[in-house]
Amino acid sequence: MAKERFEKPTGTQDVLPGAVEKWQYIEGKARELCHRFNYREIRTPMFEHTGLFERGVGETTDIVEGEMYTFKDKGDRDLALRPEGTAGVVRAYVQNKLYGEPDVSKLYYIGPMFRYERPQAGRYRQFHQFGIEAFGAVDPAIDAEVVSLGYQYCKDLGLSGVRVEINSVGNAPSRAAYREKLLGFLRPMKDTLCSDCQRRMERNPLRVLDCKKDQDKFVEAPSILDSLDEECTTHFEKVKEHLGAMGLEYTINPRLVRGLDYYTHTAFEYKAAGIGSIDTVGGGGRYNGLVEEIGGPDQPGIGFGIGLERILLILENQQVELEATKPLDVYFVGLGEAADIEISKQLFVLRNLGFSAERDYLGRKMKAQMKSADRMSARYTAILGEEELNNGVIALKSMATGEQQTVKLEELGQALL
Ligand code: HAM
Repeated sequence: MAKERFEKPTGTQDVLPGAVEKWQYIEGKARELCHRFNYREIRTPMFEHTGLFERGVGETTDIVEGEMYTFKDKGDRDLALRPEGTAGVVRAYVQNKLYGEPDVSKLYYIGPMFRYERPQAGRYRQFHQFGIEAFGAVDPAIDAEVVSLGYQYCKDLGLSGVRVEINSVGNAPSRAAYREKLLGFLRPMKDTLCSDCQRRMERNPLRVLDCKKDQDKFVEAPSILDSLDEECTTHFEKVKEHLGAMGLEYTINPRLVRGLDYYTHTAFEYKAAGIGSIDTVGGGGRYNGLVEEIGGPDQPGIGFGIGLERILLILENQQVELEATKPLDVYFVGLGEAADIEISKQLFVLRNLGFSAERDYLGRKMKAQMKSADRMSARYTAILGEEELNNGVIALKSMATGEQQTVKLEELGQALL
């Protein structure tokens, strides 16, 4: 009887050799960029107490209402796979008292997040974010820095046509004032709105503006920017001034509200065409009440999350060639049993010297071994037959030029240099 075969869960991906180099490349670019901007890596658990996300992300968000992978562990604890990175980083910031440090905490992370969403191009159930979070500063300079870092990331990768949209969602009093104005606009059209919008209207009316189906109906909606108080307006003006000084182009989108509840003041998104119907590569904003909400002191924060699957999809669609593959330095072609042993020795020596090196393990004929060297894009093949072995030499062939030379076995490393 045939054994049962398993397939990967819906909405997940296997990253195979050939594709994984692209992942390593874009992750490496993120690390390098964060170093330039003086952000340091933080690694937090893949799962947290469910309550953290309910409180942090917000009870009325799509994520908490229906997209979390929640479970009970054997100790009857309510846990959830992290649907996003911010809440866990804030928890770690509070728990480890990073707020006690004299400088602003500038942190970044790269890793998987989990949301039970309907999979489509650019949307998965396990996906990966590159995110940053900066704590402890209200200075609009840091808002601009965060916005610019994400934009620079897209540029460094060679993406074109990435647009930055920004907005201010204000502080709590400004949002409360806006909420009333917006409800005044929405209520008369309630019956014409989709069921999601109708449900959201009373619980979280700002989220209605995010609806894909009803977008066109909100063209005349009041702008949140008209409800901002003086503090919020000044902050937003300053952010724009800093962005202007950097020469960073952006558009103001007063209907940009983001899908998570913790945002205050600056909210922004990176948009690009080319991932089917989805056009958001990443987004973020300021969250000045969140640290306190999660049991910490009154410390401000700001950050973003960029979806790495989306980055890769757009790179592919824009046919951007990444310098991702690393060729092999040398492939050993061996003929005969004595050569077989000698090659083990030579491989060990070369790998210790820092070369990437490979050999045949299948006892194949010379021609098949040469084909392997080709497939692995080896720079050199080192050919060892009985005759070479007897003379203590090896034939070294450049795969680029076809040129061949004979070198002493003990000088192989030197020759490759
Ligand atoms: P978010 O807008 O929910 O924000 O997610 C950020 C990015 O993650 C999205 O723009 C998208 O590229 C990617 N993403 C989200 N869901 C999926 C999915 N199902 N499949 C593939 N990619 C996805 C946050 O998560 C906030 N924590 C960002 C932030 C950090 N705000 C402040 N600091």
